[in-house]
Amino acid sequence: MDILSGKRLLLGVCGSIAAYKVAQLARDLTLAGAQVDVVLTEAAERFVGPVTFQALTGRPVHSDLWALPEDGVVGHVSLGAQADAVIVAPATANTIARIAAGLADDLLCTSILAATAPVLIAPAMNPLMFANPATQANLAMLRARGFTVLEPDVGRMAEPVSGKGRLPEPFSLEGEIRAMLGRASGPLRGRRVVVTAGGTREPIDPVRYVGNRSSGQMGYALAARARDLGASVTLISGPTALTPPAALTLVQVETALQMRDAVQAACVGADILIMNAAVADFRPATVAERKIKKQGEAGMTIDLVANPDIVAGFARRTDLFKVGFAAETDDLLANARSKLERKGLDLIVANDAVASIGQPTITLSLIDHEGVTPLPRQPKGEAAAALLDALVARFTRWQAARAATVQA
Ligand code: C5P
Repeated sequence: MDILSGKRLLLGVCGSIAAYKVAQLARDLTLAGAQVDVVLTEAAERFVGPVTFQALTGRPVHSDLWALPEDGVVGHVSLGAQADAVIVAPATANTIARIAAGLADDLLCTSILAATAPVLIAPAMNPLMFANPATQANLAMLRARGFTVLEPDVGRMAEPVSGKGRLPEPFSLEGEIRAMLGRASGPLRGRRVVVTAGGTREPIDPVRYVGNRSSGQMGYALAARARDLGASVTLISGPTALTPPAALTLVQVETALQMRDAVQAACVGADILIMNAAVADFRPATVAERKIKKQGEAGMTIDLVANPDIVAGFARRTDLFKVGFAAETDDLLANARSKLERKGLDLIVANDAVASIGQPTITLSLIDHEGVTPLPRQPKGEAAAALLDALVARFTRWQAARAATVQA
């Protein structure tokens, strides 16, 4: 289930030209299943009208401190008190100062004073106002109180100046909201998860490489889901055409050797390694410094040497839950089982490559030392979330068993 599904979100919008971007965010959050209650400050209403948000969220939009109906909870605090998360985007210097000072002079600030849920502040303003020590001190105070404060994007402002002050795009804001909800109550909160995705490229010369068809989609979806469940995620990716999920650490690599180094660095102190990348088994023995020229009609031979097996290199890390993947065309289960042993994995995810390539659905099987658990055949888009959830259940059991052994 989507982490946003059924969540009550209070979206506070302040008076900045970036308010127009938040209309899209309100729609995206609503489509993901959240109940979005928008509160506009007086200044926000000069930029975007309540009708816009009302139409996008299907909910009444609030701005007047005195207009809320009594519903059991004291009217003016109910929106904040009942929220699962509060988001202030765009957050202006003025509203940031009012929140930091604990003022209750409008509906948004009053709601935040009464909120017990996590609060995300997305500042957007003129770069000079953002850099001002007063704004910075207010933001530091909010951080110290446990608020999640985003860094604005750097770039061209609405007025003809550039600098640090832009509101991040709705896609990023949504990712940050998901991460914040996960950190508050997700089953992976406090955990560090490393996910590899995509295929590696092994250079032949400056313009050519040996590669594979991995799209990276599964790995990216697994990384996003792990973030939604509260993990601090490092996504190590070969080249893909995908937009990386927000609110995680992205490390981009090209070759298997670069991926190995990145995985080794990221796994220090990590709890789970999900090795989803299609790592090239071989690389050209030598890389030509200049583009290799065609020699008439003669063919050519490329000598390949074996790449190191990245995940097998972690076999002795008994404190790391290691998950591998096996896409096979023959003897699926036997091959997957032998990989589980050979690579020292805690779990391997097997799929029949022939039955799934080009199909909209996929059947994944989880294989560990206890046996085989097939997941139901399902659309590929949903398979990653279901897989990650099943994987978290295994990790939790593994973790409990390990703690018991360590104690004994
Ligand atoms: O042996 P095969 O490539 O089929 O094994 C697949 C699993 O091993 C995947 O989890 C993949 O990410 C991992 N792998 C690796 N290093 C390699 C090759 C594969 O970690 N050099």
